[in-house]
Amino acid sequence: MNGVISNDTFLRALRREPTPYTPIWLMRQAGRYLPEYNVTRAKAGSFLALAHNPDLATEVTLQPLARYPLDAAILFSDILTVPDAMGLGLTFGEGEGPRFARPVRDEAAIRALAVPDMKELSYVFDAVAQIKRELKGRVPLIGFAGSPFTLACYMIEGSGSTDFATVRRMAYARPDLLATLVELNARAVMQYLTEQIAQGADAVMIFDTWGGLLTHDAYRRFSLGPMRAIIASLPAAIPTIVFTKGGGAWLADIAASGAACVGLDWTMDIAAARAQVGSRVALQGNLDPLVLLTDPATIAREAGAIVRAAGNSPGHVFNLGHGIVPTTPPEHVAALVQAVHATSRETRAAA
Ligand code: CP3
Repeated sequence: MNGVISNDTFLRALRREPTPYTPIWLMRQAGRYLPEYNVTRAKAGSFLALAHNPDLATEVTLQPLARYPLDAAILFSDILTVPDAMGLGLTFGEGEGPRFARPVRDEAAIRALAVPDMKELSYVFDAVAQIKRELKGRVPLIGFAGSPFTLACYMIEGSGSTDFATVRRMAYARPDLLATLVELNARAVMQYLTEQIAQGADAVMIFDTWGGLLTHDAYRRFSLGPMRAIIASLPAAIPTIVFTKGGGAWLADIAASGAACVGLDWTMDIAAARAQVGSRVALQGNLDPLVLLTDPATIAREAGAIVRAAGNSPGHVFNLGHGIVPTTPPEHVAALVQAVHATSRETRAAA
């Protein structure tokens, strides 16, 4: 199904095989910091119109690869496509975050939900197939989904939030209901990722942006458990990356989840993380995205520190600790990619 990939450094690192340098891609690498993204987005009319159009989604997926020698592409889409397909009515207001017209606020609303017909999401799978064709095997393509818990946060709250108080209250007051919702989301995500893989995704990433809000026990029950079930349902040959922002306390548990790779946010010491998980999994991360707002020398210094801290044993994928911010100067991304490739070649040569 998947043809030969000429630069498979990223997939090798996920498998913890030696690579000549550390591969790099960036969360939100196709986004508003790129002027060409803003042009295509304006042409589409809105972010959602862009995501719904496979031609334009392909175009913006490839934009950062035309500028920088990145080692992976990531599907241009959003995690909230899945609850949108469940009928919650997703919109993105200009300059605002996501909003659902019909959030699930009570037991009746949760019980009425069903796994969406994957036909409702065919625009995503068409984009995956088209991106694969246009990549022509240059680099691997990453598919993705939101974690069942992170999806539940937006579905219940109806929008972004600083503390997601409604869902956290539900974790104590109605754990049975929250469990029902995350289990449903897990079944939807299983089908969603399976279809992305069928259309050619070479690896998949689960974005658990809000799992770090949970207590120890609640994280295992409502976030990690459903993610583990998803990973177990996917073809073993396709590596999975799990990224729980604020998930440092559960590093060992995530490393034992079946994921090939654990994504680290910028608060973690990647050397300590490697010491803790041993050679069990690859690690992805973890430069603070705000470093990209400084200058090329600072960027090279901070990136070099992470490359060295990750060490010489195989299995590091360089990334930011969270998404790139819209005010990032595009030339600073060039400096970062160059620094990561050069420093990692040097450290390997010196080893
Ligand atoms: O990484 C990539 O380049 C792939 C594309 C991608 C987007 N969203 C495009 C996007 C991915 C992987 C996501 C994941 C996503 N979406 C997450 C998990 C990762 C994270 O950032 O924590 C979450 C929580 C969402 C939901 C979402 N989508 C929010 C909260 C927002 C608004 C915040 C913001 O950055 O504006 C979005 C919008 C969004 N998704 C944009 C992009 C490029 C910006 C929208 C625009 O162009 O106006």
